[in-house]
Amino acid sequence: RIRREVGSDQVLCALSGGVDSAVTAALVHRAVGDQLTCIFVDNGLLRREEPERVVATFRRHMQQRLVHVDASERFLAALAGVSDPEEKRRRVGETFIRVFEEEAGKLGHFEFICQGTTYPDVIESAPQSGGEAGPDGPPSGGGRPTVRSKAAAKIKTHHNVGGLPATMTFRLIEPLRYLFKDEVRQVGLALGLPEEIVYRQPFPGPGLAIRIIGEVTREKLETLRAADWVVMDEIKRAQLYRDLWQSFAVLTDSRSVGVMGDFRTYGQVVAVRAVIAEDAMTADWARLPYDVLARIANRIVNEVPDVNRVVYDITSKPPGTIEWE
Ligand code: XMP
Repeated sequence: RIRREVGSDQVLCALSGGVDSAVTAALVHRAVGDQLTCIFVDNGLLRREEPERVVATFRRHMQQRLVHVDASERFLAALAGVSDPEEKRRRVGETFIRVFEEEAGKLGHFEFICQGTTYPDVIESAPQSGGEAGPDGPPSGGGRPTVRSKAAAKIKTHHNVGGLPATMTFRLIEPLRYLFKDEVRQVGLALGLPEEIVYRQPFPGPGLAIRIIGEVTREKLETLRAADWVVMDEIKRAQLYRDLWQSFAVLTDSRSVGVMGDFRTYGQVVAVRAVIAEDAMTADWARLPYDVLARIANRIVNEVPDVNRVVYDITSKPPGTIEWE
C-alpha cells in the first residue's frame, strides 16, 4: 500500500534511533527503496555512543540513504542558561524543527514524510488524529489508511517536536498507526532489524536535557553520560534490560559531602531510575537486586569524576513521573 500511494515521489523520514522511527524507515525502505531519505539530527543530547550506532546501523547494515546532521552546538547554544523543564523542551523542539527544515530544503522536494506514530499516540492525541479510529480500537479489516491527506505534518508534541511549521506541507505516511509497541517490535523483527534496535528502551525526544536538573552544560552532559553508561552496562550485564521499560541515570542539582581516602569531597549526586511498565501512562519502580544496585553505585562513584553519591528513585507513576523533569 505504501508503494502504491507513494508512486514515484520522494519520501523523507526523521530518524531518532528509537524503535518506532527505525521500524517505520525500514518498512518504507522495503516499499520504496531509494526514494526514501532519512535525516538523523544529532542534538548532542544522546547517550554515549548512540549517534555512531544509529548511523552505523542504518547506513551500513540497512543500506539506507541517511543524512547525518551534527547539530549539537546549536542545541547546546539554544539551551544555554535555561533551567525550566518545559522551556528546555520548547527550545529542543524548536531547534529540531529549524535544523530539519534547513536540511530538508537542501535535499530537494519531498512529497511525503513518514513518521512512527503508534496507536497509543493516536489515542492520546485523539482530537487531532484525523478521527478514523474510534475509541474502541483500530478499525478491523483492510481499510486502515497508511497515508493521510495533505496536512502540515504534525509530530506528536510529547515527542517534543511541537509540529512542523504550517508552511511545510507534506503528505504523511504513518504505517504504525494502528500498532502497539509489542506489535511494532514484531514488525521490526520480521523486517530483519537488529534486536539491539527492536528491543531498545524508549528515550525521550529532549534526551539528556531533561535528565540534567537545571542548566544543561557540556560538562554536565559528560558527567551524566558516564554515569548513564554504567547504569546501562550493569543492567545489560544482569540481563535485566528487556524486563525494564526504562533504566537510566539522572544528574541532580544537589551536592553532598563524602570522603575519599583522607579527604573530604563535595560532589554531585546521581539518581538511578528503573521502572517497569506496559506503557508509559503508569509505571512501578523496579525492584532491582541489591547487588546490581551496589555495583552501579560503586562504579559510578569510582568511575565518574566529581560524583560522590548515588541514590535510587523508589517513586512509582503516579504520582511521580518516569523522568525527573
Ligand atoms: P513521564 O516522565 O511523563 O514519561 O512519566 C513518560 C514517557 O515519556 C517519555 N517522555 C518524553 N518523551 N519527549 C519525549 O519524546 C518528552 O518531552 C518526554 N517526556 C517524557 C519518558 O521517557 C517516558 O517513556
